[in-house]
Amino acid sequence: MAHILVTGAAGFIGSHTVDRLLAAGHDVTGMDNFRTGRRANLEAAGKSSRFHFHELDVAAPGALDGVVARLRPDAIIHLAALVSVPESVANPELNYTLNVHATHLVAEAARTHRVPRVVFASSAAVYGDSTALPLHESIAGRPISPYGAAKLASESILLGHAAAFGLTVRCHRYFNVFGPRQDPASPYSGVISIFDRRHREGKAVTIYGDGKQTRDFISVHDVAAANAIAATKPGLRSGVANICTGRATSLLDLLKIFRKHFPAVPPLVQGEPRAGDIVHSLGAPDEARAALGFTSDVTVEEGLDELIRVG
Ligand code: UD1
Repeated sequence: MAHILVTGAAGFIGSHTVDRLLAAGHDVTGMDNFRTGRRANLEAAGKSSRFHFHELDVAAPGALDGVVARLRPDAIIHLAALVSVPESVANPELNYTLNVHATHLVAEAARTHRVPRVVFASSAAVYGDSTALPLHESIAGRPISPYGAAKLASESILLGHAAAFGLTVRCHRYFNVFGPRQDPASPYSGVISIFDRRHREGKAVTIYGDGKQTRDFISVHDVAAANAIAATKPGLRSGVANICTGRATSLLDLLKIFRKHFPAVPPLVQGEPRAGDIVHSLGAPDEARAALGFTSDVTVEEGLDELIRVG
């Protein structure tokens, strides 16, 4: 069994990744500063004697290095980040610190203390508004936000370290991740988390545009599985892979599923399309299958059924 360090462990994707690793029998150390992560997300993990936790900011000088020097983990899964695209636009400096600089510190800690593997939370945002669908990793990244740019820069920093210092780096370009523990609080939260909350409250949802826009929605359980494979599977080579399903779902498709569970909810409200919204986004899942042996397991229907059941 391996010992894995997870940064951003109390976040949406982080906490599911921790749970997955613990269930597979690994030892897990989590780090989080609770800027956007929540203690409640680690309730299940906290019951395991194989889980340890440090309340620390990855970007703080020496913080990560100290933990890695002591633990010498078999892998680091780096999920700590400034996670909001609009926040990166409002505060590019903070985006640089929390996304680019923090990733450089992860790469350096791995180099200094000979951690053989790093898994990194990148994003479909590196593709910007490319319309060459489905999006393959080989097309040039053309980010259209400080967030997307930081993710692309971070991939490069890590892959440069991989080539120069012999570590294995896996960069995961997550598409639209959904599932339990996703925070619906902001208007820019993931659309599924917002729809879920509105339906529970018996309120109408707002659709920006005609609802025919599509996304490649992937369950957080699949994302956690991909992270666990990338951190622990022997013999992997460094590289970048989309973590997606390869299936497009429209907002109207989503609403149909919600309405089965909440038939009494008021009709939708139609709003103007959001500025900067892309119409379609779809990932090609082939590289993740070839490089990791990963394919998504959970359909949107199954994922929504679970979300609606457990909240
Ligand atoms: C994601 C990011 C967003 C970023 C964009 C471009 C998240 C949660 N969102 O948006 O910040 O600008 O990539 O890289 O990471 N919608 C509604 N009603 C709602 C909420 C959303 O109709 O109440 C629509 C949106 O206008 C959009 C679709 O649902 O067309 C999906 O929205 P969202 O979940 O924010 O994902 P992205 O658009 O992919």
